Amino acid sequence: MKTLVIYHSEHHGNTEKIAKTISTALNTELLRSQNIDIDNIHEYDLIGFGSGIYYGKFHQDVYSFVDKLPEQGEKKSFIFSTTGSKAYSDRAHDSFKLKLKEKGFKVIGEFSCPGFDTALSSEGINKGRPNADDLKAAEQFAKNLRNK
Ligand SMILES: Cc1cc2nc3c(=O)[nH]c(=O)nc-3n(C[C@H](O)[C@H](O)[C@H](O)COP(=O)(O)O)c2cc1C
Repeated sequence: MKTLVIYHSEHHGNTEKIAKTISTALNTELLRSQNIDIDNIHEYDLIGFGSGIYYGKFHQDVYSFVDKLPEQGEKKSFIFSTTGSKAYSDRAHDSFKLKLKEKGFKVIGEFSCPGFDTALSSEGINKGRPNADDLKAAEQFAKNLRNK
């Protein structure tokens, strides 16, 4: 199955760590959301979308990218994020899954873990996250996608 992982990570590179782990586990291509040629998307059978959660949502670049895509006819997708707080990631995932479904994607899995966050306090929360256990969980998540 030809797979592409697309991500946006701008705060501390937290989501990039998860994106790299997932793409390595699946042996796929990995691209930042701003570096993608829309015309090549039809080549892929499965597309993963990842983002940090910013102001309660996946980054606008990832939304804009989905906006530009043609109707996907039940193409398989999965989503992942890193976040300051789980309460926000749940809502952000629901909102982004809706966006993908409106485009005709089928969402077959989702993953989220804490990410180091200095947006609200200078000393930061979730220090050291994603950690080795988070990366292991992301790897397992990716391997389980193969069976779906
Ligand atoms: C501008 C900004 C806004 C953020 N807004 C939220 C938020 O609404 N809820 C939340 O839980 N975390 C929020 N965070 C924390 C990030 O989701 C968290 O640090 C994430 O791991 C960042 O991923 P990145 O390093 O890949 O960019 C915010 C961070 C930044 C920089």
